[in-house]
Amino acid sequence: MSPRSDPEFFDAKYRADPDPWNFDTDWYEIRKRNLLMALLPHPRYGAALEPGCANGHITTMLAQRCDHVLATDIAPHALELARARCRHQVNVTVERWAFGETWRWETAFDLVMLSEVAYYLTEPALTAAIEDMAAHLSTGTTVVLSHWRHDEEDHHLGGDQATRIALSGLPHRPVARYLDDDVRIEVVAVR
Ligand SMILES: C[S@@+](CC[C@H](N)C(=O)[O-])C[C@H]1O[C@@H](n2cnc3c(N)ncnc32)[C@H](O)[C@@H]1O
Repeated sequence: MSPRSDPEFFDAKYRADPDPWNFDTDWYEIRKRNLLMALLPHPRYGAALEPGCANGHITTMLAQRCDHVLATDIAPHALELARARCRHQVNVTVERWAFGETWRWETAFDLVMLSEVAYYLTEPALTAAIEDMAAHLSTGTTVVLSHWRHDEEDHHLGGDQATRIALSGLPHRPVARYLDDDVRIEVVAVR
């Protein structure tokens, strides 16, 4: 297999299996979600953006900490699954948008959760996506970057490499960090 960025690749994964990364059962995924929530510096946020929401596991947890969560994915089938998981959470909006497409919101976000999505972009595409995002975020916005650290053949970038590229394009101050053999999580505040 080669690195992939196309919506059809991701959508086919969800059509074949509604839980293609074993989010429901894999201890890595369950633990990661709890680490992400524990590392958020504030108890409450206003508006959050979550690109690459998959089938909505992180979305439903964010919805408990945020006034509103805008969850997006490149794969239409993932969006249906995320909508179903969050159907009782009226503060969740799910829409199709791929990280790397032109930023489309005028409203400010207080939190951006970028978990395991940046490495599906090429280096130039990630650099451009971060530049576009940085131009639309306000000082103080919390940005979370979380990446699996092992090589995967469908990733354009390694996890640590994606983190480095994203951080170098985003004016920030570090807020919190978690690292083990499998995952690196960086929490920063936009400057
Ligand atoms: C490995 S899963 C990560 C899901 C979740 N964010 C997490 O950390 O558990 C990657 C998800 O990102 C989506 N995806 C891939 N490229 C994307 C892009 N450029 N923009 C938005 N979503 C994307 C895939 O469809 C898939 O649902």
